Amino acid sequence: METMKKLSLNVLEEFLSGLPWESSNFYEAWLAQTYYYTSHSTRLLEFCGFYTKDKGAAERYREHREEEHGHERIALSDLKRLGGDIALHGEHLSTRKFYWQQYEIIRHQGDRPFLGYVLMLELLARDYGPGIFEEVSAAHGDRCANFLKIHIEEDIDHVESAAQLLQSFSAEEQAAVVDNFNWSLDCYRAILKDCVSFADVRRESEAESV
Ligand SMILES: [Fe+2]
Repeated sequence: METMKKLSLNVLEEFLSGLPWESSNFYEAWLAQTYYYTSHSTRLLEFCGFYTKDKGAAERYREHREEEHGHERIALSDLKRLGGDIALHGEHLSTRKFYWQQYEIIRHQGDRPFLGYVLMLELLARDYGPGIFEEVSAAHGDRCANFLKIHIEEDIDHVESAAQLLQSFSAEEQAAVVDNFNWSLDCYRAILKDCVSFADVRRESEAESV
């Protein structure tokens, strides 16, 4: 399908392959920031349900909300198993920007563009999740990788249903999805960069205190 082909994660590929998943400081930061933005998943889907004029879509948002329910707590428990503490990880501005913009888009443009945010995360999980899961499991054990594991398994089917939904949108709506996909991708890259910076700063302060 033409529009799906426009949803490319290529710009992230090189950057993703260089991320230090074996560093517990980096993985901790990633889990903490993941906890913050996934805490908004069900609220954003509820927001979509409120702003949509499409009854079928409202039902899908309701179902998706049920699936996402409690996922932020999985990230939090992975963080705890890793020995991390959410109180030591503030929400980065890049993380806030990532989800906050979605509320604004839904409020001003309705529910349709939100599929770009959803598809960005689902394609990321489908295409890069398995490799990241392997790296994380090897370094920290799979008991600290439940969030990754669940999303690799679930998001394969989710991409299929999201692609079908996208096909039912008008050309204008599909363009808005692509636009939001690219916006979300840029924001997500900034989140990852901030996690790298967090890990660097912590490593330096750990080295100084030795
Ligand atoms: Fe989820």
